[in-house]
Amino acid sequence: MAKVLITGGAGYIGSVLTPMILQRGHEVTIFDSLMFGAQPLLGFSSHPKLNIIKGDIRDASAVARAVGDHDWILHLAAIVGYPACAADPHLSVSTNVDGTRNVLAAMGMGQRLIFASTGSTYGKVLGVANEETPIAPLTLYGRTKRDAEMLIRDSGRQHTILRFATVFGSSPRMRLDLLVNDFVYQALHNRQIVLFEGYFRRTFLHSSDAAAIYPFTMENFDAMSGKVFNVGDESMNYTKREIAIKIKEYVDYYLHEAQVGSDPDQRDYEVDYSRLRSIGFRASVDLDGSIQELVKILRVLTIFNPLRNA
Ligand SMILES: NC(=O)c1ccc[n+]([C@@H]2O[C@H](COP(=O)([O-])OP(=O)(O)OC[C@H]3O[C@@H](n4cnc5c(N)ncnc54)[C@H](O)[C@@H]3O)[C@@H](O)[C@H]2O)c1
Repeated sequence: MAKVLITGGAGYIGSVLTPMILQRGHEVTIFDSLMFGAQPLLGFSSHPKLNIIKGDIRDASAVARAVGDHDWILHLAAIVGYPACAADPHLSVSTNVDGTRNVLAAMGMGQRLIFASTGSTYGKVLGVANEETPIAPLTLYGRTKRDAEMLIRDSGRQHTILRFATVFGSSPRMRLDLLVNDFVYQALHNRQIVLFEGYFRRTFLHSSDAAAIYPFTMENFDAMSGKVFNVGDESMNYTKREIAIKIKEYVDYYLHEAQVGSDPDQRDYEVDYSRLRSIGFRASVDLDGSIQELVKILRVLTIFNPLRNA
């Protein structure tokens, strides 16, 4: 059984991923600054093979101690999404880029890194994006992830880079800023969705599939080492309007199509997942099932947010 370090293990994806790795019998250490608290860990904190380090990825010596003799480093810790990065550019660069540099500096030749990157690195793409499509990120978030990818590729360390679709679905550290989660929440609690750029084509992946790609990568590392993979499934390419219409099957709400509003990442493209599919990975959760799941939980998960109407 392996020793696995998960940076960002208390986050939206990390808190779904951690129990999955524990369940396979591995020893897991979470390294996380716990910027959203430790509550996401409560569902599995009693597991005897789980260690928790509250630490900052920007702190090189803390990272070096944490990396230690772990066999695998699943590096997810980051300031995530363009609004969060725009809100504090210095923090975002030091966390996403310098933090990744710290991880690489702490790693030896025998250790293996799986890095969480994003489709936001592509920027505006005409047609279908595959892993050979030149990346040209439009936002600071995308640029920090591109810079981290470049550090990793130049590092000589064993690695796989995963460029995720937009994730959705439940997690112990819930995020309502992700498109599908946000739309379902708005439909339930505001009784309307304000939709702009409804024709934009986006690509999605359920949180449990975003977690499942990690054990899959560990088990298929010989085929995936040194490579970049788009992580998602062609069956989950939808326009924003298609998502909104699908939600109407489960929630009665008013769809307000607005002429104002724009996605700074300009994510309007289909993504090709054939490289990952050729190794055998398919998403297991489809949109219908997960909208029902989100309606069930978001109906009762009301949050206090003065910027929302509910
Ligand atoms: N959720 C998505 O749709 C999506 C899509 C593409 C890529 N990703 C990538 O997946 C990873 C996880 O994303 P997420 O959705 O779980 O986000 P999240 O914000 O829920 O999780 C990020 C975690 O990193 C931790 N963190 C932040 N700054 C830190 C620091 N300085 N030191 C240590 N820990 C720190 C936070 O406490 C949090 O637990 C990120 O690298 C993100 O870029 C996510």
